[in-house]
Amino acid sequence: MFEHISQEDLDAGWKALGGGGVGSAIPIVVSHGKGSTLYDLDGKAYIDCTSQAWSLSVGYSHPKVISAVTEQIQKYTHIRTSFGTIPKLLLSKKLAELAPGNLKKVTYALSGSDANEGAVKLALRNRNGNTFVTLMDAYHGRSLAMINFSWPHPNNRFTSFSPPIIRIPQAYCYRCPLRLEYPACQLACVELARDIILRGTSEPPLALMMEPFQGNGGMICFPPEYFKAIRNLCDDLNMLLIFDEIQTGFGRLGTWFAADYYQVIPDILVFGKGVGGGFPLFGVIYDQGLKSFMPGDHSYTFAHFPVSMTAALATIQVIEEENLFDNVRTIGGFIAQRLRELQQSYEIIGDVRAIGLMIGVELVKDRKTKEPACEEAEKFVKEGLKRGVIFGESRYMGLGNIVKIKPPLVITQSEAEKVMEVFEDILKALKK
Ligand SMILES: Cc1ncc(COP(=O)(O)O)c(C=O)c1O
Repeated sequence: MFEHISQEDLDAGWKALGGGGVGSAIPIVVSHGKGSTLYDLDGKAYIDCTSQAWSLSVGYSHPKVISAVTEQIQKYTHIRTSFGTIPKLLLSKKLAELAPGNLKKVTYALSGSDANEGAVKLALRNRNGNTFVTLMDAYHGRSLAMINFSWPHPNNRFTSFSPPIIRIPQAYCYRCPLRLEYPACQLACVELARDIILRGTSEPPLALMMEPFQGNGGMICFPPEYFKAIRNLCDDLNMLLIFDEIQTGFGRLGTWFAADYYQVIPDILVFGKGVGGGFPLFGVIYDQGLKSFMPGDHSYTFAHFPVSMTAALATIQVIEEENLFDNVRTIGGFIAQRLRELQQSYEIIGDVRAIGLMIGVELVKDRKTKEPACEEAEKFVKEGLKRGVIFGESRYMGLGNIVKIKPPLVITQSEAEKVMEVFEDILKALKK
């Protein structure tokens, strides 16, 4: 299909694109990928530490995923949501088995934003009122409803199409909202949150939505006790707890879900990205004690796409067969340790936050003032590309001074070593 490509055609394509991407375009035209590595049209290789927005959990075109999908598309591709399909039934059974506690009911969507809206609709079906609670620096999508659940975007014109939101400060311990130190603070931020909720609204909120590890907001992880305190806060105030696990689900932390890692079970868990192994699949797993959707509440034409569901079953099988949780812990542990060693020598590394292969490095101009080193984070990405590593950065949300390392779960030790060599090389270049 793509044998005769001219540069003019590609240029015309760039010109016709009407915007809508995240941040600035990356100057790579992709040829193909294998494992954790992406190749451009000139054959240059890049170790991908973004997993293409957390999606390529088992790497580029994993042979088992491609083989399962190829078999499936010979039979049929699209089937309406009203029908049963083998991929749908087997995947739903598997997800209900994998999810912790009473999370036994599964529903599907087309994107993370739609899936989060599904969680919002479930909350509205199960509680009175309209008000929701989210954390500062949250990211839950860009549909008209979800864009206001997320941290307000620059020049955001779209907030009036969402329910009322109360934003509470999160346990961002490196930059504590109360200027306290953990654990001496005894999680005073949760008590502050309680106060903000009780005194900041005329009606009790019905649910709190949060990412267990805030990715786009700055790769912020929270102390384990925070989760128990938030669960208690929700129970005290009769709010449902919604975990947006679109980034953290399916192995990124070395467990199926962050809920397993922290041993705290939400009422509603939103999943997506990595589960599809490169194919679009999103959804919600919710407590079987909750009232379900009413007919017509939540349906999208392609939401039960059998091809994506087959890919998800194959991806889960690969995670199990290749013991990828072990790999995540080993390689993630290696990268985190190396970063902490580098932190001893390079002042610019303010904080290293890492669980499994969810890793963020907060760059600062000065360790004392913690002034964010934003241009340096931007340079990190550019210099990484020159040296054959794709780093992520959180320029769009949060402070913009975070380098993200979140490679596919299949990344090898030698690839991780190369990533860390490049990382140090860039640190040296920045020091000059
Ligand atoms: C945590 C989280 N929630 C929601 C979304 C929105 O997903 P989508 O872009 O598919 O709407 C994303 C996407 O980056 C995400 O990372």
